[in-house]
Amino acid sequence: MKAALLVGGYGTRLRPLTLTTPKPMLPLINTPFLETKLLHLREHGIREAILSTGYLPTVFDEYFGDGSRLGMKLTHITESKPLGTCGAVKNVEKLLGAEPVIVCNGDILTDLDVRALVDYHRAKGALVTISLAPVEDPTQYGLVPLDEDGRIKEFLEKPSWDQVETNLINAGTYVLDPLVLKKVPRNENYSFERELFPELLEKGKPLYGFPSDCYWLDLGTPEKYLKAHEDILEGRIEVSIKGKEIEPRVFIGKKVRIEKGAKLLSPVVVGDEVTIGADACLGPCVCVGNKVNIGAGSRVEDSVIMNGVTIEAECEIKGSVIGNNSYVGRRTRVSDCSVLGDNVRIGDGNELSRGIRIWPSTVIDSERIKFG
Ligand code: GDD
Ligand code: MG
Repeated sequence: MKAALLVGGYGTRLRPLTLTTPKPMLPLINTPFLETKLLHLREHGIREAILSTGYLPTVFDEYFGDGSRLGMKLTHITESKPLGTCGAVKNVEKLLGAEPVIVCNGDILTDLDVRALVDYHRAKGALVTISLAPVEDPTQYGLVPLDEDGRIKEFLEKPSWDQVETNLINAGTYVLDPLVLKKVPRNENYSFERELFPELLEKGKPLYGFPSDCYWLDLGTPEKYLKAHEDILEGRIEVSIKGKEIEPRVFIGKKVRIEKGAKLLSPVVVGDEVTIGADACLGPCVCVGNKVNIGAGSRVEDSVIMNGVTIEAECEIKGSVIGNNSYVGRRTRVSDCSVLGDNVRIGDGNELSRGIRIWPSTVIDSERIKFG
């Protein structure tokens, strides 16, 4: 069975991180998220995938190439303009063949039983089967009410609260009979959620929903990106973690120097070539990339520190993300879901909080920012 992965979006809600890296290629526990996604599909018997790219396409190609390193066959197809979710799949129609295919949104972390989804699709004789997940706030997603037999009654993308009659939403993995693409216009922006699905339902076609209680998270915002890290670190979803487990859920890479009095509080992951200064404290729920320096006495908690970062002495980083090769001066505090892009330079004694987002390569002098 083949899969088509939608990985062409701009990832605007995850800026500034996505200004330099497309969302599916952001590191998740020090591995590009899409690698984890592809390995999950491979475990379920999918050996061939088409990556439908658009925004920063070379990042995918350079990292995965033809997929042989993952034991998969990957084809990269890049759109010259955004074609929307359905338009992107129409664009690769020729590569799909006649058998049902899996279509995945490229930003969903899940341990969905893909084989069970396919079996259900076949048993129901469906044209499309949509995996569903229960959520507390369905207004951010595609709402999918079902009848008693599991058949989809309606598809409401980003509904208002008065339209909400179920907590089941489109979980972003479909089994699709390529027949449904026949009438989709070629080379035009076209949406599964706002166009094809509602149109097929209008015509009375058999679309089914597959609810499951698997782990499910859309990585679309900084809060969710941090949540995905926390859930993997705490073992709510099983994802393989690089490094040596020196204590329960404390993983460290090669050439890690831990100076006197420094502490690692589980769960925590540290990459290769990292120095943790005297009396510094990392964790709980921290992921540190490769070639990172954490200064003496600094504390890092509930945060993601990407590759090449330097955090000087006596800093406090809490619930935040620090992008690749950024520098954080002494006694600086970063908290409350603040996000620093790549190559940012923050001088000593700043206080960044309240979800502040710092664009790549920004330089902030010492003692410039304080929230009262
Ligand atoms: N190739 C390509 N071209 N990919 C695209 C395009 C495009 O024009 N537009 C979006 N994508 C990709 C994105 O990269 C992402 O992986 C996926 O399609 C979904 O886009 P999002 O922007 O993340 O959509 P969403 O999260 O608001 O909503 C979608 O996902 C929800 C589940 O997380 C919808 O499918 C909802 O119905 C669903 O509930
Ligand atoms: Mg999304």
